[in-house]
Amino acid sequence: MPNSAKWLDGLAALARLWLPRFAGAGGGAPTLTLPRWAGEGNRSLVGVPRQSLPRPAGEDRWGQVTLVGAGPGDPDLLTVAAVKALAAAEVVLYDALVGDGILDLAHPKAERICVGKRSGRHSLPQGEINALIAFHARRGKRVVRLKGGDPMVFGRAGEEIEHLDSLGIPVRVIPGITAALGCAASTGLSLTKRGVSRAVTFVTAHGRDGERFEPDWARLADPQGTLAIYMGREQARAVGQGLTGAGLPATTPVLAVENGCRPDERRYWTTLGRMAEQGVAAGKGPTLLLVGEALRPRQSGTADTIDFRALGDLAQGFDHD
Ligand SMILES: C[S@@+](CC[C@H](N)C(=O)[O-])C[C@H]1O[C@@H](n2cnc3c(N)ncnc32)[C@H](O)[C@@H]1O
Repeated sequence: MPNSAKWLDGLAALARLWLPRFAGAGGGAPTLTLPRWAGEGNRSLVGVPRQSLPRPAGEDRWGQVTLVGAGPGDPDLLTVAAVKALAAAEVVLYDALVGDGILDLAHPKAERICVGKRSGRHSLPQGEINALIAFHARRGKRVVRLKGGDPMVFGRAGEEIEHLDSLGIPVRVIPGITAALGCAASTGLSLTKRGVSRAVTFVTAHGRDGERFEPDWARLADPQGTLAIYMGREQARAVGQGLTGAGLPATTPVLAVENGCRPDERRYWTTLGRMAEQGVAAGKGPTLLLVGEALRPRQSGTADTIDFRALGDLAQGFDHD
């Protein structure tokens, strides 16, 4: 038998072996049996072939959605997977926190749609963002949903994934560097430290729309832990009061990092006690509050006796460099 015939024969044997695994019970349209660990109906797995998923009648091709973590702002901190997804994108829906340099990496012909707060505009309501993503996916487009930091950390990725799942639209997620890890790296301060901090907690200081911010202060006030507080600038006084009220020493160091990992990054040093009285003097950029003994600047002494001039400009107790 010639080689090409042998090859075809082998292929046919393989097909006979494998096709029944993918065929439905009645031998109808192919279906995909997901592994048990995937959970019933979970279609958000990286690598699930989209051709295997059911399509609504009338749709002849699927788009695909990729939620991409843009990291804290510096394009050099993107993953290779994120850069590839951007280069291949036909539609990019991006948040306001995503730096321009990152958007420049999208395919030149990609349609760019800002869904975040920009130039005085409010961000789109989440329901409209969900609908926009689905709309473009159903047009058969390769859609990138670009989010600041990591999509799975205070990024409302869960709502977008659930919505796409409910429509049977496959989605995959490419992680990004979350603000806490980016700010730790750029400031050179480890969030954990042997004998000082053995846990890191990511917490938001932002209530749901219109809701009061009321965390369990006693649970958060761990003297051997580090808190990374997202969306905390406006609530800084309440955070200081809550944590000192729950027993954390007023001398606990606080570092507020504004525009972390960007050329205009600014750092503001204070203590929990001072923050409880004055809040933080950070500007309008995205600001992360890092609280805990692990943040104590490398100079000797307690945060209250630190010579802040050694860290940069000193301004009435609010000290930034
Ligand atoms: C809606 S949350 C999004 C968090 C994002 N998904 C992440 O993983 O970093 C926005 C908050 O993240 C923090 N943040 C994001 N980027 C930052 C940056 N470059 N520097 C400091 N804080 C940042 C700020 O607290 C900001 O208010």
